[in-house]
Amino acid sequence: MNAAPQKPNDDSHRLQDRLLHVSRLAAVGEMAAGIAHELNQPLAAVANYAQACERLLGLPNPDLEEVRDALRQIAAQAVRAGDIINRLRGLTRSRETRGEPTDVNALIREVSDLIDSDARHHQSRCRITLADGLPSLVLERAQIQQVVLALVRNALEALAEVAPEKREVRVSTARSPDGDIEIVVCDTGPGISPEIVQRLFDPFCTTKPAGTGLGLASSRTIARAHGGTLEHRPNQSSGACFVLRLPTPAWR
Ligand SMILES: Nc1ncnc2c1ncn2[C@@H]1O[C@H](COP(=O)(O)OP(=O)(O)OP(=O)(O)O)[C@@H](O)[C@H]1O
Ligand SMILES: [Mg+2]
Repeated sequence: MNAAPQKPNDDSHRLQDRLLHVSRLAAVGEMAAGIAHELNQPLAAVANYAQACERLLGLPNPDLEEVRDALRQIAAQAVRAGDIINRLRGLTRSRETRGEPTDVNALIREVSDLIDSDARHHQSRCRITLADGLPSLVLERAQIQQVVLALVRNALEALAEVAPEKREVRVSTARSPDGDIEIVVCDTGPGISPEIVQRLFDPFCTTKPAGTGLGLASSRTIARAHGGTLEHRPNQSSGACFVLRLPTPAWR
């Protein structure tokens, strides 16, 4: 008589498969709910402005300037919807990066003017400290710059909550003890609110009225596509701190 010793194993595999399937479905459902919510706003605005145009043009002496304003709003909202879709595409793309040898400090210097002017606009100071002697890495520079700018933008937005004389964002590069290159963005703002700290990198996690909550999620996707990581560094004496770590495979 042949017993079936594999049966419990088979059952547990099947259960595991089903659980995986259900959790994937849940993730897709959550994502779809987020997309629906995000796109609903600009689409509702487009519909409202279009109705307003129709109403205005039905008047005996339509004010064409008002109609033009409404059409501009329609165009702006359509661009916003397109922007949300583009960022989502970036989030789901898991292609390998095809980079080129890049000096990480130079990559930051290239966006330093942009960072400075953004900081001035937010009445904040910005300090950039670049470590000497970093090896060059194979990167998609525009993508890494996009991550740095998203982190700086978050820092500047958070700094709006503290007095102007206390607003500072620090961008630095460093070599970690195990040879990785770190790009660190810290600020003197209020820090991450405790309610969202566990979900910080989830798509659509935002505390901002006009935020999409895609900045950190897509930045982490970029970090991972480079074989690196993007983490929030907890327990800072003040403010928030994010670390982008990029591996240097041939450093030894
Ligand atoms: N430097 C920071 N200080 C405090 N909170 C932060 C900081 N960076 C991120 N956060 C919190 O994390 C949330 C998610 O950030 P993320 O960049 O993903 O989205 P967002 O900034 O809200 O919207 P988006 O970047 O899409 O415009 C923010 O809403 C904010 O609550
Ligand atoms: Mg952001």
